[in-house]
Amino acid sequence: MLTDPVGDELMAACPDLRAIANYAVGTDNIDLEAAARRGIPVGNTPDVLTETTADLTLALMLALLRRLRDCEDEVRAGQWLTWEPARLLGRDLHGATVLVVGAGRIGCAVARRLEGFGCRVLTAGRKDPLRPLLGQADVVTLHCPLTPATHGLIGEAELGAMKPSAYLVNTARGPIVDTAALVAALHGARIAGAALDVTDPEPLPADHPLARAPGLLVVPHIASATHATREAMTGMSVDNLLAALRGERMPHCANPEVYDR
Ligand code: GLV
Ligand code: GLV
Repeated sequence: MLTDPVGDELMAACPDLRAIANYAVGTDNIDLEAAARRGIPVGNTPDVLTETTADLTLALMLALLRRLRDCEDEVRAGQWLTWEPARLLGRDLHGATVLVVGAGRIGCAVARRLEGFGCRVLTAGRKDPLRPLLGQADVVTLHCPLTPATHGLIGEAELGAMKPSAYLVNTARGPIVDTAALVAALHGARIAGAALDVTDPEPLPADHPLARAPGLLVVPHIASATHATREAMTGMSVDNLLAALRGERMPHCANPEVYDR
């Protein structure tokens, strides 16, 4: 699982290891190069979770902008006493400018939904400079893989380049955002809020400074968590594993260079 780090040392300790099937599309928990060097194919689960992850991203955006947590807390606390014109006001997603960071499968599926919502969508691919785009966005949403190049991609300078009225959404990987910088930005109201499906650390302890930061909505890494999608991921992981054990090519291999050897 994505919570299991599989490094060179672990592989060295398992001389009979023939295949690794990750139950995730992300493979940042696995040293792909070391696996390839050892002739071990690594499978992952692309495509089947793309739309489900994009759905959750929109759910987080809407919940954050429309303050659903504050709203629900008020009802449950018995504080819904009247209807007021200026109570629990949020921000509109329709008409907002949304910066999608990462132009892969999930980023594109999110962009497609946002167009339906009437948003102005900006996309930043791997080679696009981020800084000039950040200042234009009302919402910044992250959909890049975690690699050495994206580790800490959103730090103090990037959060500082966002509008104070802007929101950050992360359904990619926690370490893409510098946690300390995000905590400081939320406390200092340098951004309006953040919605996170992924955090660094993960799991996030309830007493962690990030969990207690104002303007934060956090859920426990559930972007692919629907019955249908988890079932599809299970099938794909098993197919990858069985193919490798039969000596066949994995249907979804994250280090295909292993087959060039
Ligand atoms: C989930 O985070 C995945 O990578 O599948
Ligand atoms: C709101 O419920 C309205 O009718 O404007």
